[in-house]
Amino acid sequence: MHNNPEKEKQLAAKEAVTLLKDGQIVGLGTGSTIFFAIEEIGTLVKNGLQIKGVATSDASYQQAIALGIPMLNINDVTRIDITIDGTDEFDDNLQLIKGGGGALFKEKIVASMSREKIIIADASKKVNALGKFKVPIEVVPFAVNYVRQQLKKLNGNGEVRMKDGQTFVTEQGNYIIDGDFGPINEPIILSRHLNEIEGILVHGLFVNMADSVIMGVHDTTVTFTR
Ligand code: A5P
Repeated sequence: MHNNPEKEKQLAAKEAVTLLKDGQIVGLGTGSTIFFAIEEIGTLVKNGLQIKGVATSDASYQQAIALGIPMLNINDVTRIDITIDGTDEFDDNLQLIKGGGGALFKEKIVASMSREKIIIADASKKVNALGKFKVPIEVVPFAVNYVRQQLKKLNGNGEVRMKDGQTFVTEQGNYIIDGDFGPINEPIILSRHLNEIEGILVHGLFVNMADSVIMGVHDTTVTFTR
C-alpha cells in the first residue's frame, strides 16, 4: 500500500483538532500539514468552538483570519494552552527538526509559551536519526560567515538558503543557513552547541518540546507520546 502524504496530513490534522476545548488559546503552526488543521479549526469555530488563535507566521495568520478564527497578538497573551504544529522530521524520542518553511523563530517562541505541544505529521517525517533534513538555522545577516565557520567546528556544513534565485529572508529580516551535520545522534548536545554561537537567533532542533506526535499513516493515525 502506497503512502499518500496529503491524506496522512489531513488525517493527523483532523485527529489533533479533537483535542481543542472551549476557552483555549491555541498556537497555530506553519506549513502544509498545519494548513489542514487550520481549515478544520475554521469549521469547528463556525460550528461554535470558542477558541482564540496565536499564529506562527503571516501565512497562518491570514488563513485563520479568512476562516473567521479570532486571533490574538502574542504579546497580548500570558499563556498558550495548546499548540498544533508540523515538523520536518521526528525521531523515537520525539525530537524534531523544524523550520523547512522558515517560520522556526515564531514557532519556537509559541511552542515555548505553550502548555501542550502537539505535532502532526505524515509518515515520511518519522526517522531513525535526525539529520537527513538539514537543520534550519536563522542567522542575523551580519554574522552569516562567522556562523558558517563555527558550524564547521561542529562538523557541519552550512549553506545560505535561496529562494527563486534570491537569498531567503525570514519574517524577522534574517537569513537561514541550512546546516548539514550528517546523522544527528545527540540532538540535545548539538542543540546546546548551536545555542552558544553568537549570531544565531534560533535553530530548528526542537528538543524535548513535543508532548506528542500524531502521525497519519495510510488511512489511520498513530499517536506517539513522550
Ligand atoms: C515551518 O517553518 C516548519 O517548521 C514546518 O512546520 C515544517 O517545515 C513542516 O512543514 P510541512 O507541514 O509543510 O511539511
